Amino acid sequence: MSITIKTAEQIEKMRAAGRILASCHKEVAKLVKPGVTTLEINTFVDEYIRSHGATPEQVGYRGYPYATCASVNDVICHGFPNERALVDGDIVTIDMVVNLNGWLADSAWSYAVGNVSDEARKLLDVTKESLYLGIEKAVPGNRIGDISNTIQKFAEGHGYSVVRQFLGHGIGQLMHEDPMVPHFGPAGKGARIKEGMVFTIEPMLNVGVYEVFIDPDGWTARTADGKLSAQYEHTIAITKDGPIILTDQG
Ligand code: MF3
Ligand code: CO
Repeated sequence: MSITIKTAEQIEKMRAAGRILASCHKEVAKLVKPGVTTLEINTFVDEYIRSHGATPEQVGYRGYPYATCASVNDVICHGFPNERALVDGDIVTIDMVVNLNGWLADSAWSYAVGNVSDEARKLLDVTKESLYLGIEKAVPGNRIGDISNTIQKFAEGHGYSVVRQFLGHGIGQLMHEDPMVPHFGPAGKGARIKEGMVFTIEPMLNVGVYEVFIDPDGWTARTADGKLSAQYEHTIAITKDGPIILTDQG
């Protein structure tokens, strides 16, 4: 598959999906508290997306059963929402994909539950900053590896490891398109970034090792050493003047 270039009109359709997604995340931020379950958050998100005339694209994607991935503490990504109540000190990543009139937007956000440890707070802050530093490199003429390398250097400079097994990706009418966007690797390599590309950047940073274990459910991806993991993801569109964040919560 090659990289599809989107027109300004198509990017505007993805931005409309992204606006719904971003406003949903802002509601999720208010919901995340000790005592709430990730299944309750999932139900809220599912209903929020549908009540805005869109559909949750993750439902049924390769058999995935839920509108959200809800990944608590040592879960890196693709956690199933469940009936365990969140407790003070947890961190939880909520990932969702909104389909509005056939055009998609994808964004994951990590949340602190109540008061979290300094270790967790710092992981959240560095992971979010690594995403924004990566986005700054998403300008025409750079290469995908310039994004990858910037994120890796920043993350490892803070003592964290970068997950290798899951990558950012092109997105449009399909959830996963070319190019693949690693969050590690050499600068100056990979596809040349061009106006009209739309892709996600979604670094997953771990306190310990980057290796992944998959649970028997076939989805839930955990850190191999049981230490914390966080993730922030935006969908961005490349214009001649640089990136636009389609899932911006600003
Ligand atoms: N939103 C995810 C991504 O960032 C995909 C989740 S896999 C699914 O690529 F099965 F849950 F959809
Ligand atoms: Co996602």
